[in-house]
Amino acid sequence: MTKKLYIETVGCQMNVLDSELVVASLRKEGYELTDNTRDADTILFNTCSVRQHAEDKIYSALGRLKNAKQSNPKKIIGVLGCMAQKDQRLIFERAPYVDLIVGPGQLHQVPQLIKEISAGGEPRLEVSLGRKDGSRSDIEESHESFDPLRDPEMRPTPYQAYVRIMIGCDKFCTYCIVPSVRGPEQSRPPSQILTEARQLAGEGCKEIVLLGQTVNSYQHTENGRRWRLSDLIYALHELAGIERIKFVTNYPKDMTDDLLAAVAELPKCSKYLHVPVQSGSNRMLERMKRGYTVEDYREMMDRIRDRVPDFAVTSDFIVGFCGETEGDFQLTCELVREQRFKNSFIFKYSERPGTRGADLFPDDVPEEVKKRRNNELLAIQNAISEADNQPFLGREVDVLVEGPSKASVKQQEADAQQVQLTGRTMCDRIVVFDGNRRQIGQTLPVTIYDANAHTLFGTVVTQHVGPELFSLEPISKPPNRVNILKNFIPK
Ligand code: 5AD
Ligand code: SF4
Repeated sequence: MTKKLYIETVGCQMNVLDSELVVASLRKEGYELTDNTRDADTILFNTCSVRQHAEDKIYSALGRLKNAKQSNPKKIIGVLGCMAQKDQRLIFERAPYVDLIVGPGQLHQVPQLIKEISAGGEPRLEVSLGRKDGSRSDIEESHESFDPLRDPEMRPTPYQAYVRIMIGCDKFCTYCIVPSVRGPEQSRPPSQILTEARQLAGEGCKEIVLLGQTVNSYQHTENGRRWRLSDLIYALHELAGIERIKFVTNYPKDMTDDLLAAVAELPKCSKYLHVPVQSGSNRMLERMKRGYTVEDYREMMDRIRDRVPDFAVTSDFIVGFCGETEGDFQLTCELVREQRFKNSFIFKYSERPGTRGADLFPDDVPEEVKKRRNNELLAIQNAISEADNQPFLGREVDVLVEGPSKASVKQQEADAQQVQLTGRTMCDRIVVFDGNRRQIGQTLPVTIYDANAHTLFGTVVTQHVGPELFSLEPISKPPNRVNILKNFIPK
């Protein structure tokens, strides 16, 4: 009999990829996905610890499962990922009916652990060593990356894939929990990455997104050759079938000229860079221990502007960090006005126990002030995003079609042939247009007729081809395709 798996994912792209791999490993064991917890034999939460709010959501979801577990003690409940690594046994204390706590470095063990628990075994806790609990090499080893060669049927979409090129982080920004929960920075060998990408290309994947907490800090020496991110991109660019290459998230200090040259020169390389600045105030950047000044960041933006035509840069900001005054915040607003990011992700500071920030500085900006600053900065950014999307009106852009738009999925149109589709331009702008399911995975010219802050609306000029070239067979949703994003809750 098939077993049913419910999985909910919170957080960043790393977590989305981790969930994809966990789902794939469990499908090999005969699991099928369900989107409700009632039917599920196993319920997994892949968690995030970056902000308190993301953790609260998981604890309340766990709270709601207490009765379900009481009425069916055979149901297995697991907590995976960053919060599992951070809170460890505390999760058992807060939700004693949890069976499984597995850190991001132990996810490959999930199928075996579930088997053992189902066979009557004790609840299990499997996590990595803490950053102070051993030698660097022991700690590195305990954060095992989970990147088996993937089964194409298990990927959420056949045309796009995340490829992890590094794990962990060594930057230790004072507000951030990531270096403790994801462990030391470790770059994967280029040969492994290229093998994975070659296989993806062979399976029809057109876009790969390289993932790392500080992806542009990538470096690895293999057979005496030192590889940087730019070297990796040049090698990936050679792969037939791959049409687009993106990479996230960038660290401002590591945005080197060789990387900008690769982005500018290589036609398959998306002209989109996510480079979080976090604040426009040097005093805040210093307290955050970001390792650069606003002037350094401006200089980097100037280099991007000089070298990369039609680029788009997005950023992250933390408002209300410890000691942030109105003056500091106004400097951030100024930077946003001046740099005109394509988009900004704005977060209210959330104190993370165990970080240097929590030890050193009181979380002294009141919640209402954080909220107000968040809204103010968002309003500035939205006005810029909307204004900067207007020049696209009347222009034709190349869109790699990703799938039905959110609106058409909501209206349950996803299985119809004629649907509203969504895709992205080379500079990562979202484009929505009416089309046909068979266009998913194609790169199409779309003429833009409307634009708001976050979306361009367009029409596609369909090229009619002779019947001998055009298969009339409907291309329907592959029966086994896994929709792990169904239960994805953004942070
Ligand atoms: N509070 C609020 N935002 C945070 N981020 C990281 N740590 C915190 C925190 N403690 C934000 C940063 C980072 C993004 C992924 O999350 O802006 O770039
Ligand atoms: Fe966190 Fe800073 Fe590392 Fe980014 S660079 S993951 S913000 S510590």
